Amino acid sequence: MNTTKDAIGRAFGLPIAAALLLIATACTQETGNLPGVSGSVRDPSSQIASQIDASLHRLKGRWIVTEATGVQPGTSIVFGAGVVQIGPDTLMVKDLGQGRLQIGGKEVWVHWLDADNRTAALGAPDGKVAWIMDRTGARNERHYAAREILACATSLFGADMRERSQLHLPQSTILEPVKGGTDMRKIAAVIGGGVIGGGWAARFALMGWDVNLYDPDPDAERKMAEVLRGAERALPMLYEVPMPERGTITHCKTISDAVAGAVYIQESVPERLELKHSVLTEIQAACSTQAVIGSSTSGFKPTQLREGASRPGQIVVTHPFNPVYLLPLVELVPGDGAEPAFVETAQRVLREIGMYPLLVRAEIDAHIADRLLEAVWREALWLVKDGVATTEEIDNAIR
Ligand SMILES: NC(=O)c1ccc[n+]([C@@H]2O[C@H](COP(=O)([O-])OP(=O)(O)OC[C@H]3O[C@@H](n4cnc5c(N)ncnc54)[C@H](O)[C@@H]3O)[C@@H](O)[C@H]2O)c1
Repeated sequence: MNTTKDAIGRAFGLPIAAALLLIATACTQETGNLPGVSGSVRDPSSQIASQIDASLHRLKGRWIVTEATGVQPGTSIVFGAGVVQIGPDTLMVKDLGQGRLQIGGKEVWVHWLDADNRTAALGAPDGKVAWIMDRTGARNERHYAAREILACATSLFGADMRERSQLHLPQSTILEPVKGGTDMRKIAAVIGGGVIGGGWAARFALMGWDVNLYDPDPDAERKMAEVLRGAERALPMLYEVPMPERGTITHCKTISDAVAGAVYIQESVPERLELKHSVLTEIQAACSTQAVIGSSTSGFKPTQLREGASRPGQIVVTHPFNPVYLLPLVELVPGDGAEPAFVETAQRVLREIGMYPLLVRAEIDAHIADRLLEAVWREALWLVKDGVATTEEIDNAIR
């Protein structure tokens, strides 16, 4: 089954999707507060320093929290112009100068930011929140340098803080390892490497993941290389900071080869339910029981996809938009049968690769965004039929 949306995506491509994106952006408003613990994890009377050349401009873009107190490790943080997205919350952010920020009305200092803007250590002077963040989410040598800076150089957080947190703040997540293991190799499997699967593979790879791709089309490698070239040109333009080191894309001979070792699997085969069922069966026969299986389906509900599955709770709909490497929106539809842990992991992974997972609470045909697109499509057809506008004029009207 191909939905009208696929046709629209092809006919109108970016303009409609971009229009939706603009609507979503226009609707952004401040929600939630800066997270934090109830007590303080530092002695507020001890002196602390901020890095005077750190600025909001240098922090722009996406980060992953690698270690923290008061905010969950693994949280995605995206600094934009005047706003910062911390997990699901959008907060106002202001640059106070000298490495100091105001986030959601609270002062947060940048204690350290490396010269290439890849790893940073931040904390609130009141000691209610402190975190280390990295562009890739990896705990690399810079992570440990940041930890040293928090722990020793400024003698305000770290080992000292750990003792305090154990004494006074047993709920604190300080210095807990990142859940889901950013230490482990990040491998994604993409099953079906056409328009959508190719886009997923390119996005994962450009975000530093290693990708295993399976597509029986003899021409799949050439097609993938073409998509990757487009993605390499376009995606970095969205970021003002260097991209993570690119991951590999390995073309696999079987589905079981592709899913071996993958923590995230994205099914993107043609929109035929019996084909999706047989592919999902093959995936589940070989993949880790911990891996998330997302389906790109435009039209099927998760309940339909799960029919006959050995572990139905592992499968969710993760419906993207074309081109996947450029458009951040992804509709995450858990339906009734998804296990919450898989939904959480899917959200974390999707944010980590720069996407915006929109949690769709109800299972409905064609999810949310495509229904909006179809309404626009219907109206466009009427306008053309009634001679009010040409297709070109309609395209220009929503550009
Ligand atoms: N095209 C869009 O705009 C769009 C947008 C969002 C979601 N989707 C959804 O994404 C999915 C894929 O759509 P597409 O547009 O990329 O289709 P496509 O035809 O471009 O790609 C499908 C790919 O799957 C491969 N394939 C066929 N059988 C396979 C199998 N058994 N195992 C692995 N790969 C196999 C094909 O060789 C092909 O390369 C569909 O479910 C569709 O509804 C499409």
